[in-house]
Amino acid sequence: MSGKYKIINVVGARPNFMKIAPIMEAMLKEPAFEPLLVHTGQHYDEEMSQLFFKQLGIPKPAIDLEVGSASHAQQTAEIMRRFEPVLLEHKPQLVLVVGDVNSTIACTLVAAKLHIKVAHVEAGLRSFDRGMPEEINRLLTDAISDYLFTTEESAHQNLEREGIPEHKIHFVGNVMIDTLMKNCRQASTSQILPQLGLDNGQDYAVLTLHRPSNVDLRDTLERVLTAIHEVAQRLPVIFPIHPRTKKQIRQFGLEHMLSALATNPPPAACAPGIYCINPLGYLDFLRLTSKSKLALTDSGGLQEETTVLGIPCITLRENTERPVTVSCGTNVIVGTDAEKIISESLKALEGRAKKGQVPEKWDGLAADRIVQVLKQIAA
Ligand code: UD1
Repeated sequence: MSGKYKIINVVGARPNFMKIAPIMEAMLKEPAFEPLLVHTGQHYDEEMSQLFFKQLGIPKPAIDLEVGSASHAQQTAEIMRRFEPVLLEHKPQLVLVVGDVNSTIACTLVAAKLHIKVAHVEAGLRSFDRGMPEEINRLLTDAISDYLFTTEESAHQNLEREGIPEHKIHFVGNVMIDTLMKNCRQASTSQILPQLGLDNGQDYAVLTLHRPSNVDLRDTLERVLTAIHEVAQRLPVIFPIHPRTKKQIRQFGLEHMLSALATNPPPAACAPGIYCINPLGYLDFLRLTSKSKLALTDSGGLQEETTVLGIPCITLRENTERPVTVSCGTNVIVGTDAEKIISESLKALEGRAKKGQVPEKWDGLAADRIVQVLKQIAA
């Protein structure tokens, strides 16, 4: 035994990587801690996983569970089956999980049953829509975690309402924004704009779409793409495409709505149209978003990033678990109604989008605050 406080940090899917990077960095500076990184392998493609480790300087995982893709039950069960022996072997004092993906709940459940304390980063967010797999993951993870780190005031209220004792909840800010602030300068050296033929200062929009509720039903996907196609008559829309969405567009025969389906190298996006490109690494995507006229998205993370960047964000969902991006930031929730998508987009293009502010404690110091709390717990 080293006498150090051993922490197993878990990552699995793309949005986890930006969150764990500053936490690992802050933990590694703390002599009292022995942090280990476990990758479940929920995401495994070079551009969905490894690229983020390289660009964000995340240490190579000590253990890769290599679970890969499967149904929710199979994927969750497989992560649990493979994670249990890791905990039995390494006997950490704490397991830290981030976000709301299947890896988050799977590893939390295993740790809690072995009586190992769990810290959940990004706790308390609620869309109040149990049709979203992430909502189930959030509710269950929070219910059995010991330390709940929150990003915004609404999260605290949600947890209190669910009976979580006050002393477990710590409002620390947003680790995703730690990563954004740290990487802004580096991202400005990205060559993505010239690569896409967008380096002449012309307007363009960014689109991301991957939620099952938007891409798994043909009618919804077609309606959303039709509306965006209309917006794309005004300016090029750059669409880094998630593997799930690419598969669905092919299966539904909707390729004709796009100007190209993830070609490499991508076509120069100088004319109006929806331009599909392969998923981007963190730095290219940050560069692309930060120079865009507006973002259209169903991602949770992008709602937060656009709020900090001051870029108008049109959220293609009926709800958000991140309400501070609406009350304080640049986010507008439009759902999948074609008219609303078009009218809000036009507002943004005409410079009439709502102006926002940066939420409290989204200041680049969230990971340090987490480590300070954990130091007190470990003492
Ligand atoms: C997962 C998260 C979601 C998050 C998203 C970000 C859950 C329930 N969902 O959704 O919250 O916003 O990640 O991307 O955990 N695939 C690949 N290569 C990969 C990964 C996935 O081709 O590296 C394909 C597979 O066909 C897979 C599908 O994408 O079946 C979906 O992947 P999965 O991890 O099940 O969920 P996501 O939709 O990525």
